[in-house]
Amino acid sequence: MLEIWGRSTLKGHVQISGAKNSALAIMAGALLCPEDCRLRNVPSLMDVQRMAQILAALGLKMEQHGDVLDINGRDIQQSQAPYELVSQLRASFFAIGPLLARLGVARVPLPGGCAIGARPVDLHVRGLQAMGADVQIEHGMVHAYVSGSNPRLKGAKIYLDYPSVGATETLMMAATLADGETTIENAAQEPEVTDLANFCQAMGARIRGAGTNTIIIDGVKSLHSVEYSIIPDRIEAGTFLVAGAITHSELSLSPIIPDHLTAAIAKLRAIGAKVILESPTCVRVIGANSHVATDIETLPYPGFPTDMQAQFMALLTLSEGDSVITETVFENRLRHVAELNRMGADIRVKGNIAIVRGVPMLSGAPVVATDLRASAALVLAGLAANGKTTIEGLQHLDRGYDNLVGKLQNVGARLQRLKGDKEAESESASLNTANLGG
Ligand code: UD1
Repeated sequence: MLEIWGRSTLKGHVQISGAKNSALAIMAGALLCPEDCRLRNVPSLMDVQRMAQILAALGLKMEQHGDVLDINGRDIQQSQAPYELVSQLRASFFAIGPLLARLGVARVPLPGGCAIGARPVDLHVRGLQAMGADVQIEHGMVHAYVSGSNPRLKGAKIYLDYPSVGATETLMMAATLADGETTIENAAQEPEVTDLANFCQAMGARIRGAGTNTIIIDGVKSLHSVEYSIIPDRIEAGTFLVAGAITHSELSLSPIIPDHLTAAIAKLRAIGAKVILESPTCVRVIGANSHVATDIETLPYPGFPTDMQAQFMALLTLSEGDSVITETVFENRLRHVAELNRMGADIRVKGNIAIVRGVPMLSGAPVVATDLRASAALVLAGLAANGKTTIEGLQHLDRGYDNLVGKLQNVGARLQRLKGDKEAESESASLNTANLGG
């Protein structure tokens, strides 16, 4: 449980951690590497720990010192990922691509539904089939294998019906060790896809076009050891930009990659906040006394990120006028609306559209976090609200934010975690429940 006393002015500098979604994909990518793999700038998160547990269960050796993670995948002893772990972390399904590429066989449980939508894996599966894998889904398990005495995937031309981040990553990893050339058309262009491609290239993979909608991979026989630093987390940075704006404060953030924040910065400027690029890796936000409404539609990159939708909704509840927010990426990602309304927001939902009518003030209230980015939105609303807000369901926040509470305290926010016996119990229970999401 988190207690927040709102309406403090924030001031100072925030250090941005490594990107969660890059770290998870790159850790799965380490399965491709038969030698030492050293990752730097790894964020300290529950999701990263879970991915590490999955790799350990597959037989990889791992050592962590601060934000450096050493992985050795010389011996993969298992081709089957354990259900209890995969069901807690959707990104762990991405291991299917590298496992199949390396061993010719992979057994990974279907990740199942999650808090923000059904999230099928049909695009991953169809792409692997196009590369010559036989795939059977039985008893909730995806069993993929390549037949023959020399089980190697074959390069293929793959068109994705939707530019899925996970499917692009799975197929790109699988193709690095395939026989021949693979083309992924309508590929996801998210920076984390490019980061994974750069990591694979640093291990000797041959990949062109990452960051565009066509990625071409020339398969190689094997990859080699690597040392690689993960990019800064654009969603964490975006969340702190909103924190500055919603509290009418001034905050600087680094390291960041400004290009990765284009959509978020454009929307902050549209509502009247000042955003200044101080250097190629540092940005400053200065919240205005009052902000105005704007419309937002979530889209694949470089469109506005679905992972920032909830945080911007919190900000728009206090911006003058009507804002229309359209969520197009996930079908059930407006569950924070009811909680924001409990704090005095005026939001109506119709299907995947939320109409936010700006109110002059939010009031602190007890609320419940439903997923990762929804919990960030409630923290932001709590920072701006009158009085005390208590947020239950902090395990969601721990999945994806590296020390959010400490970083906010450092810049003057008044908030603290409370952990009674009951919370500790329910936290460990919910760690055993599938609660994914963004
Ligand atoms: C990744 C991110 C997540 C982000 C999302 C969209 C990670 C670990 N997570 O999730 O934070 O919110 O991208 O930017 O990187 N879909 C299918 N079939 C598939 C795969 C996806 O229909 O086989 C659908 C999904 O249900 C969803 C949409 O495509 O509606 C986007 O999903 P996708 O881009 O795959 O997101 P993830 O990779 O799961």
